[in-house]
Order: sequence, then C-alpha cells, then structure tokens
Amino acid sequence: MTTTPKRYLITSALPYANGLKHIGHLAGAYIPADIYVRYLRAQKRDVVFVCGSDEHGTAIPIQAMKEGTTPQAIIDKYHGIMKQNFDDLSISFDIYDRTSNPVHHETTQEFFTYLNDRGELEVKESEQYYDEEAQTFLADRYIKGTCPNCGFTGAYGDQCEKCGTSLSPDDLIDPVSTLSGKPPVKKATKHWYLPLNKHEDWLRNWILNEHQADWKTNVLGQCKSWIDAGLQPRAVTRDLDWGVKVPLPDAEGKVLYVWFDAPIGYISATKQWAKNTGKDWEPYWLDKDTKLVHFIGKDNIVFHCIIFPVMLRLHDFIVPDNVPANEFMNLEGDKMSTSRNWKLDMQDYIDDFIKKENGGPQLADSLRYYLATILPETKDSEFTWKGFQDAVNGELVAVFANFFNRTFVLMHKLAGGKVPRFHNDIADAKDNELIEEIKKSKGGIENLLEEYKFRDALFNVIDLARKGNKYMQEKEPWIKAKQTNSEGAVTAEAQAQIDNCLHVCLQLCANLAIFINPFLPNTAKKMCHMMKVVDKMLEWDNAGSLKLLSVGYSLRAPELLFRKIEDAEVQYQVDKLKAGLEKSKMEQEKANGNEPAAVSKEQTSMVDTPQPANVKAEIVYDDFDRLDLRIGTILTAEKVQKADKLLKLEVDLGFEKRTIVSGIAQHFTPEELLNKQVIVVANLAPRKMRGIESQGMILTAEEPDGKLILVNPDSLAKNGSNVK
Ligand code: 2FM
Ligand code: ZN
Repeated sequence: MTTTPKRYLITSALPYANGLKHIGHLAGAYIPADIYVRYLRAQKRDVVFVCGSDEHGTAIPIQAMKEGTTPQAIIDKYHGIMKQNFDDLSISFDIYDRTSNPVHHETTQEFFTYLNDRGELEVKESEQYYDEEAQTFLADRYIKGTCPNCGFTGAYGDQCEKCGTSLSPDDLIDPVSTLSGKPPVKKATKHWYLPLNKHEDWLRNWILNEHQADWKTNVLGQCKSWIDAGLQPRAVTRDLDWGVKVPLPDAEGKVLYVWFDAPIGYISATKQWAKNTGKDWEPYWLDKDTKLVHFIGKDNIVFHCIIFPVMLRLHDFIVPDNVPANEFMNLEGDKMSTSRNWKLDMQDYIDDFIKKENGGPQLADSLRYYLATILPETKDSEFTWKGFQDAVNGELVAVFANFFNRTFVLMHKLAGGKVPRFHNDIADAKDNELIEEIKKSKGGIENLLEEYKFRDALFNVIDLARKGNKYMQEKEPWIKAKQTNSEGAVTAEAQAQIDNCLHVCLQLCANLAIFINPFLPNTAKKMCHMMKVVDKMLEWDNAGSLKLLSVGYSLRAPELLFRKIEDAEVQYQVDKLKAGLEKSKMEQEKANGNEPAAVSKEQTSMVDTPQPANVKAEIVYDDFDRLDLRIGTILTAEKVQKADKLLKLEVDLGFEKRTIVSGIAQHFTPEELLNKQVIVVANLAPRKMRGIESQGMILTAEEPDGKLILVNPDSLAKNGSNVK
C-alpha cells in the first residue's frame, strides 16, 4: 500500500498467560509495535493498538498442575502481571484484553459458526492419542515424546521447544501422556478441519506475488516453504475442557483449538475497545482502507500469514497488509529458555532497575533503547549485559544526553537561559550543513519507520545527536566567550556567533525530542518539560523545522536524562543469570531422581571461571561401554523432503552401509559432507524419521552459538574402527 490508509489496526501477539514473559518476547512483538504505533500517533493517523492475554490451550491447565492450582487462578495471576509489565515498560496498547472475556467467546463461536454454516470446514473422524488411565484425549501439550527433527526427548505434541519445529502428536517418537506418564493408545474421535489445501492458490498469489516486495524475506521464506510443502487440512477443534466451547450440539467435550481462537482475540479486543470508548469496531476489520499489521515472533508466522488470513478472508474481513515478524534474541551467548532459566524476565528488569530508588521510567527507556538497537529484524540477535551497559553509557548518556545537556548548560551560561536569535548575516557553512541535516532527517527516519526498519531509524536519530556534538565541538562557543572587550563583556561579534551555535543546537534538541519519542517516550516527555513546551510539539509534522523554540523563550535548567549503568550492576545481573541456571539444573536433577552434587559457595557465586555448561549426571564406565562408536565415511547425502533440518546420509561402516537421518541440514550442505569421515553411534535403536528408517547417529559438536562441527578422526582411519 503506497498511499496513506484511512486507519490502522496494529496487533502484538497475545502472550500465553502461563508464566512470566522475557525480554526476547518484548523485543519480538511489543517494542517494535509500540515504536510503530507511537510514530503513527505522532503522525495523527487513526490507529488502534490491540493486545491481550492468550488464556486458552493446554499450556494453561498444564501450568496450573505445576503450580498446584486451577487454570482460572493461573490466567488471573499472569494476566495481571503481564498487563502491569507492559505498562511499566511503556507499551502503549489502546487495550490489553484477555481471551476469557465473554465478548471473545461470543466472537469466536460466531466465527466458527459462520465458517461451518457455509461449508468452509470439513468434519472427519480420525484416531487420536488417548490416555486410558486419565480417560482423556491427549491434545497438543498433553503429549510428549522425542522430536523427529532434533531428537529432543521433551518435545510437545504441538511443538518442539528445542528446535522450534511445529509438530502434531503423530510426529512424536515414543510418545507418553504428560498426565499419567504412560504410553497412550489410539482412539477414534471427530474433529472439524479448515481445509487449507483449498486456499493454496490464493495464498501463493497473495503472499508470494502481491507481497513479494514489501514483506520481510524471513517471513516470505517461511511462507514459501509451507506452501511448497503442500498445505493440509488443519484441525480447529480439540477434545479438551479448557477453551472456547464448540457451539454445536454434537460436539460435547470439545473446544476450539487455541490457534483458532487466539487470533480472533485481536477482533474481540477491538470490539471491547470500541465498547469502552464509544467507537465503532467494524471499519477496523471490514473496510479495505484499513491497514492491518501483525507484530509477532518468527514461531508464529504460519498462524498469522497462512491460517488466520484464510479464516479472515472466508469471513470477508480484511487480511494483514504486513506481518513484520522478528527472529529470536539470544542472551549472553545462549538461547533464551524458560525451562533452563536462561532468560531475563520483564518482571526482573522492572524490579531491579525501574522500581529501585534510582530507576523510574527513564530506566524503562534505557532498556527500550538497547532492545531497539538489537532488534532481531533480519537474524537472531544477542542481548548481553555488557552490551546494555555500553549502549546506555556510550550512546544514550555520552552522545544523546550529552548533547542535550551541553546545549542547556551553555545556553544558561552564555545566552541568559533564553533561546538566542539566529543572525543570518553571519551564518557559515557549518551552520548551514547542520540545518540541512535537521531538515532532511525527517524524510529518512520516516521512510525507515514506514518500512519497519526500526534499528536503522534509531541509528539515524542517534547519529543526528552525534552530528550536533560534532558541530558544537567545532564551533566552540566557550572559546568565543573569551573574546571580551575592555569592560570584560563578550564582544558583539563573538556573542552573535555563540547565539547562532546555541540557536541551532536548541532547535536540534527539539527535533531530537520528536524523533526519539516513538522509541523513548519518557525521555521525549522529559525533554519537553525542560524545553517548557507542551507534548503537542512532538507531532511528527513539526520535525525538520528550525522554528520549534521561539527566540527569547526561557528554558528550564538542565536535568539528567539518563543515568549510567554501573559495572557492579552488570556483574550482579551476570551472576544472577548463572545462579539461576545452576538452580534450574539442580531442580532438573532432582526431578530426574538424582541427588544433585553439593555446590560450594564459590560455585554459586562464580562469574569469571568458565563452567562446563550443562554437564550431565555422572555415569560409570559400563554405561559408556554400552555405546558402540565406529568410524564411517559419508558416501551420499541428500535433503529430506518437507523437513528443512534433515539430511539423509549413506555411511560406510566397513562391515556394512547404513542409512542415517541427521538433523544437520541447516549447518552443512550435502556436497560438503561427501567423503567426510565421521563417528557413528552404531548400536542406536533404529528410528523412523519422516518415513525413513535411521540406523544410527553421527556425532557433532555444538558450539555455544549453536554452530555444529563434525567430530572426526584427525587422520584417515579404517571404516568400522572402534572409537573408545
Ligand atoms: O506464541 C504465543 O505465545 C501465542 N500465545 C501467540 C498468539 S498470537 C495471536 F494469534 F493471538
Ligand atoms: Zn526438535
């Protein structure tokens, strides 16, 4: 869409109300959406920003079991915490709703009925996993097993949390019920399906042609591989008692699948917002002149780009104009993980920085700043505490705040605390250069924001402050102030030069407030307070102007915009992270029935000594001796269809040739593996993966950044040799 639409409906993924959310979530779907929305509001566009808690799905009752409470208590608890967390981090939703809202249940049931009545759904009976002991079907997370893609043994029936692959219960190897721990049986049951296969042509054209140029390549790539693999009918009902009931008499004990109801949550939240504000929700979802944008993380792409758009179109709703999904954010060299406790929860940051006596909303902006500079827009990115400190101290404090502060200090010292006039007659090349920069920066930043390139947009803002510092350094008004007449007063000529420098710098300060506002709203407010201007000045139309502060207007004394992050704070956070990991490892050990080894005080507070991360429980020699490790040579390697992580290898073990399916396709091309020697676990029980029997496993080393390296002998060895 090139022309400005009449209105915008912006959504951020509804987080599951089953636990605390971390900064990876914040950077994925909330900070970018908030930047965009604040920019649109500054443009005076008609925009509604909706979100809310996702309170259905098996994740909720499972968390209730873990915490020994009811699903209702879980959603109430985490909905409350998440709402407050977003507020504390200045995420400015117009509504933060929840899917337990009756408006949502009605909206979802109406949606299902509409599609079902028009014959857009199919009903099929199939065999599904059933727990005989618990007497219940095992949907999604009620079933666990080994991931066919990466071999992780704790994968859920809907997704492997280790490699991110979306799964169905039938994909799991050695499935067990999470309720009884027993292997399930198969039992017939009836479900409603959305036949995505019927919409393949439309999806292909809509995504891969119409949006080829304006959707992000990571999003297009995922969509293409889904569509190319051939879309299948998708069940939209489940045998469960937690969720939105299927509104049909012959669907007793069934609810709508959480991924059917959750995105409809965007619609019901809009309805609730309209109800609260006396507005009409319909144009936001029905009028083609609305621009709908979904902000999500990459694990939600298929739902927002394929399934939900099909549902929307079948109901004559508008479809998204863009889905600028982000990749993931790692933490201190490793994937963020709730189960391994390797994460920084929003709540922890709020407690340690915002709520502490030194904190306040400025510390919300410090986090927003660092996250915005490392948004995983095109690839996974990395949060480190040192990086946070460097970004705050080296850019926010040393560049941005420094420019603002210097300007204000000098204006009070050399211009009587008032905005001095600009003397056109003595304007020089340096003045004109910076003035031009200010004027043209508006268009540049605007284009980047419109294209969801938030990192680059912020870089341009900071760069503008950097140019301000350079200009001031070159102009040296403090040196000019030493040019005095016989009475000790600054000469008229020198004062005019001082005035020009401070005038331009002050106008730049006002522009910086406008530009920084979408990213750091609390900072922009504080800047307005110091400039004694109302927030209306922050309207985007004002950007690029050199007349934002009137000549003669007196401004407040400078105040600190940001505080530095101290080394001790960084150290404390790194220690805390490592101690959290240790704690979760010990808990895991206990849960596995092993007595954890005693941990000395030094160990719990260790920081600098590199630790052998995640060393498994001790084994005896006999355990090791049961492994039959052999040298083999890879004879052939090819990709496995519809499995982007798997390679099928033929390996010569000397005494026989084996077919081995290995989850290494994203690390090696088939060609580079040919004739490579590898170490093979030769006595691993055969397993079927994507219909191919894998007769062993090859050994690889995983580096901290996830990179895989083949483990092989350092010189050519005979195939079949024992490895001991
Ligand atoms: O992945 C998640 O956390 C889901 N709760 C996101 C849902 S987004 C939308 F569809 F509601
Ligand atoms: Zn996996």
